[in-house]
Amino acid sequence: MTQMLLSTAVACATVAAVAAAVMVWQKFHKHSHCDQALVLLYEFRHACATPLYVLRHISEHVALEMQAGLNQPGGSQLMMLPTFIEKLPNGCEKGLFYALDLSGTNFRVLRCLLGGPNARVIKQEYEVVAIPRALLLGTSEELFDFIAQRLISFIKLEGPEFQRGHNWNGHQIRELGLTISFPICQTSHNTGILIKWTEGFKIADGINDTVGTMAGGHYWNDDVMVGVILGTNTNACYVECNLPEDIQTKSGKMVIYMEWGRFWSSHLPRTYIDEQLDNESVNPGDRGFEKMTGAMYLGEIVRRVLARMAQEANLFGDSVPTKLKQPFILLSNGPSCQSGGLCTASATQ
Ligand SMILES: *[C@@H]1O[C@H](CO)[C@@H](O)[C@H](O)[C@H]1NC(C)=O
Ligand SMILES: *[C@@H]1O[C@H](CO)[C@@H](O)[C@H](O)[C@H]1NC(C)=O
Repeated sequence: MTQMLLSTAVACATVAAVAAAVMVWQKFHKHSHCDQALVLLYEFRHACATPLYVLRHISEHVALEMQAGLNQPGGSQLMMLPTFIEKLPNGCEKGLFYALDLSGTNFRVLRCLLGGPNARVIKQEYEVVAIPRALLLGTSEELFDFIAQRLISFIKLEGPEFQRGHNWNGHQIRELGLTISFPICQTSHNTGILIKWTEGFKIADGINDTVGTMAGGHYWNDDVMVGVILGTNTNACYVECNLPEDIQTKSGKMVIYMEWGRFWSSHLPRTYIDEQLDNESVNPGDRGFEKMTGAMYLGEIVRRVLARMAQEANLFGDSVPTKLKQPFILLSNGPSCQSGGLCTASATQ
């Protein structure tokens, strides 16, 4: 829950930092609009606040929605999608693994030699490939041909240090995993996506980045039960141990994908700025939580607060800088970002 609200705090802190810097400068230059800007800043900070009782209300609401969504598909703001994944890596895995990580505009290919509980990750290499724009607009066959070609070139560069044992009839065994950070349809966990892969590969899995994040955490610590993405958008998944009757697994557990960007609760600390941003968006009233936390919106929230301070407290002098009036001119890449501008975090139960 604390993590859920991390991004709101980041927006708040950024505004505070920018405003403080400007105000210090103004104090130094004996300007007198500071007090008014400070009042606006305190108002905003107050409206963003998440004291413990607010967090408790929100977590109770999330828990209610989770239960409702589990009991009845479509019965909640949260999608609560079953992933049909019941086992997560636990550090005992051995062998040579390849992974493809597809995001909207690029993909990462990675090879990794795993040595089991004591040796863990022996060696790892990866490459990020930008997907040409034309291919993004073309057919999926062309796109996947391109990805397969790049995968082949990457495999050709595999050094002998990766080929330690794990042979079958004299052939090196390589396993391939796939994470996808855009929506796919899934009916059961090996049939998410249909791709004709190159020979010599066995498709291990097709999962998305949220589940991939949790699996990565679980590899190192098997108490990890939750995966949270705080990136351009926000999402979460977790291991459910009380499955409804119609989606049972052997172990009685399954990873549930929450799709919580649409979550909304009157307990969320929604400011005037959040409301304004939502009103002026293309989908007012939808994806409320995402609009308050996603990196896609954080820069815009900061801009709106600064624009208001410029307007009402002359923060930047007598007029509002023209650039500051331009929506989405401030971009944020999220709190701590990996190559793809994707922020990941995992938590233990
Ligand atoms: C993640 O996985 C779920 C369930 O498999 C799927 O429905 C959802 O669209 C995926 N989301 C993303 C962002 O890939
Ligand atoms: C947002 O829209 C609602 C409904 O149209 C309106 O009542 C509210 O005042 C608007 N809020 C802001 C901050 O623009």
